[in-house]
Amino acid sequence: MSKKPIIVFEGIEGSGKSFHINNVEKFLKKKKYPYIKFREPGGSKNSESIRKLILNKKSNFTKNTDLLLYLASRSENISLIEKNYNKKIILIDRFIDSTIAYQHYGMGVDLNLINFINKFLLKNIKIGFTFLNIVNPKNMKLRLKKRNKLNRYDQFNSHFYRKVQNAFIKISKKNPKKYQIINSNLDINNNKEIIITKLLKIIK
Ligand code: TMP
Repeated sequence: MSKKPIIVFEGIEGSGKSFHINNVEKFLKKKKYPYIKFREPGGSKNSESIRKLILNKKSNFTKNTDLLLYLASRSENISLIEKNYNKKIILIDRFIDSTIAYQHYGMGVDLNLINFINKFLLKNIKIGFTFLNIVNPKNMKLRLKKRNKLNRYDQFNSHFYRKVQNAFIKISKKNPKKYQIINSNLDINNNKEIIITKLLKIIK
């Protein structure tokens, strides 16, 4: 019987994580593996409502409010995760590393507070593997330019995104067996193959 881990896709804006998670979804669907996929912030109906609130360009919450809203959105997904944990592969577009990278390393919110609430929410839920997508500033800008709608978090300066990406890399280095870095400045088809090959190893 195949394993059914939680697999997370992380990375800054324009890093290609959503493209690759969608490609993995297509693969799992075709091969008839049981899976669910959702994004954070977002996922369940309530979490999607919170997403709209956080990312609306007219919102101007403080960094602490943003943190609590991201965690509130996560809180609304816990029962969805628990219901499927070890029963289906769970694909998540962003999860706890995004909170650490953006709210702590990017915005300076207290790390202990973030870890405390994440532990409180997740309890025994463990992430199986993370694909960390990285991108250089030039390609990030090019990809963001192609989007017809930018949200509140798509508009920081390149220094901020560099800080956040370095944070993701730092987090991944603490537990290298559980992470694979995908360099999205390189060939996309080759990256697709790298991810599917690794996926098959993780779930076998
Ligand atoms: P998305 O555009 O990839 O869906 O992500 C929405 C934004 O939310 C993205 O800029 C990263 C940000 N974010 C955080 O700042 N903290 C979090 O905990 C999560 C899940 C996302």
